[in-house]
Amino acid sequence: MLVLAIETSCDETACSIVKNGHVILSNVISSQEKIHARYSGVVPELASRSHLENVNIVIERACRKAGFGINGIKDSISAIAYTRGPGLAGSLLVGQLAAQSLSFINHIPLVAVHHIEGHLSASLLEHPRLAPPYLGLIVSGGHTELIIIRSMGHYEYLGGTRDDAAGEAFDKVAKLLELPYPGGPVIDKLAANGNAKAIAFPRPHMKGTWDFSFSGLKTAVVNFVKNEGVKKRSPMQVRDICASFQQAVIDTLIEKTFAAARHYGLHTIVLGGGVTSNSSLRRQFNARAKKERRAIFIPSPLLCTDNAAMIACAGYYKFKKTGGLSRTDTVKTDPGLPLENW
Ligand code: KG4
Ligand code: ZN
Repeated sequence: MLVLAIETSCDETACSIVKNGHVILSNVISSQEKIHARYSGVVPELASRSHLENVNIVIERACRKAGFGINGIKDSISAIAYTRGPGLAGSLLVGQLAAQSLSFINHIPLVAVHHIEGHLSASLLEHPRLAPPYLGLIVSGGHTELIIIRSMGHYEYLGGTRDDAAGEAFDKVAKLLELPYPGGPVIDKLAANGNAKAIAFPRPHMKGTWDFSFSGLKTAVVNFVKNEGVKKRSPMQVRDICASFQQAVIDTLIEKTFAAARHYGLHTIVLGGGVTSNSSLRRQFNARAKKERRAIFIPSPLLCTDNAAMIACAGYYKFKKTGGLSRTDTVKTDPGLPLENW
């Protein structure tokens, strides 16, 4: 069964075609990084305009890579999945309209997917036998959430960030250090040659909850940079700031995640979201899982950041269970969509 999926929740215009929930026939991503780089962050108006310019091109490319043209959709595709939310309002609308149009013209059912559900499903693309229950940690530019997946579509939300998401903190610290956008991959590279113990930044543990908070850590970096004086900063010092900040984020995520796994007796941990492509984070999560004898699944870096293959995968399981929406059903996109069971 082939699912075509469209993802436009933030600044990636993506379309993917996935067979039986895990065989990726095509996974096309058009990044808007260059457009937003000069503003050091995503500009919503520019994002939706760019989605509009690119969405048809990306869909056509995904079909061609999968071995059929745009006219082959009617005979080849069983369901069309798209990201309903959360995300940027205008960006989500472009993806929904493209999905609705394809569904309407070709008489194919629609499946509305939650973006976090997509990130949680990314590991299933590479490990289709991975079966719930497991603990999910999603760390991206907009989210830092701990969720128990009891069964497909049955979620138990444990906690999330009360202020900045971890990825947002990476991007803001990079901006402060006058590094290019997006900050995560740049900090990842610079940190590799820095000393993670150079500066003792706080580890915000939010005791007694499964929540996170990264704004205090960000402020600690701001204060450190101000006190040290911008002009005196050497490349070595920048690398040390990056490594020390990154380590504070990783320690916080690791401690809380493994504490939750112990508390709820969950053997398996599944990661997802752009920040989980961080090389040091991946190494340290894998090492801790080995030490605690837990199974851990971290998607390949390309499947950690936003893509439509993960939406196709989540859409496949949802479609199998719920049958999807009819081509004339109206479902509103929702920038603040809560994670719901199905
Ligand atoms: O999942 P994603 O592509 O989009 C959202 O759903 O937000 O995540 C984007 C975030 C950005 O904040 C970016 O800086 C961060 O993921 N990121 C990283 C790395 N690659 C991307 N953060 C740390 N290390 C990386 N290697
Ligand atoms: Zn995402």
